[in-house]
Amino acid sequence: MVSRKSRSARAASTPRPNTSVSISNITTPSILENIKVSTSLPELPAVQGDEVELRHVFMNLLLNARDAMPQGGEIQIEGGLEGERVKITIADEGRGIPQESLERVFDPFFTTKGAHGTGLGLSMAHSVMSRLGGEIRAGNRPQGGAVFILTFPGAEIQTTKAVARREARLQAAKDPRRGR
Ligand SMILES: Nc1ncnc2c1ncn2[C@@H]1O[C@H](COP(=O)(O)OP(=O)(O)OP(=O)(O)O)[C@@H](O)[C@H]1O
Ligand SMILES: [Mg+2]
Repeated sequence: MVSRKSRSARAASTPRPNTSVSISNITTPSILENIKVSTSLPELPAVQGDEVELRHVFMNLLLNARDAMPQGGEIQIEGGLEGERVKITIADEGRGIPQESLERVFDPFFTTKGAHGTGLGLSMAHSVMSRLGGEIRAGNRPQGGAVFILTFPGAEIQTTKAVARREARLQAAKDPRRGR
């Protein structure tokens, strides 16, 4: 498993405001031909984030899984709670990610798809998840295929972070030399 919690990709767009987003509303796999998508998403608390950005994150993960299975196959989306955190895994039956690439898949412009890929999909996903205080990790399943694990912070953690950010902004406004 490779985790890049602290690194933020330069490909990030301007931050968008967070709202409550239902994960089951943003997994829209119907466009994937030849691919069976099985979901196991129990009732989960809404996560905090921007719905458009999170749709892009899921769409890129699903398209990556499809690209890895040119002959078709199955994508499994599973959700659950890990303590207060919402955890989503997206696993495929494709060729998997070579060990040396696992270190690089979240780097901006890293692609193995030549002219067909920009290499920005996972970099963007990483930025979005980092900004939410969440995490995205890449790995391989023992039986073959790649797996991506997304964890979203619990509502309580989010609230604490939001308060801390607001206080930092207030401090910076009081004393412009701070917070630079
Ligand atoms: N499910 C997967 N199975 C195997 N390799 C993957 C998978 N997902 C990502 N990768 C590898 O990670 C690379 C980077 O993925 P990323 O989504 O950032 O860019 P891309 O898919 O190449 O381009 P774009 O997202 O613009 O179409 C891919 O080129 C591929 O080598
Ligand atoms: Mg991609």
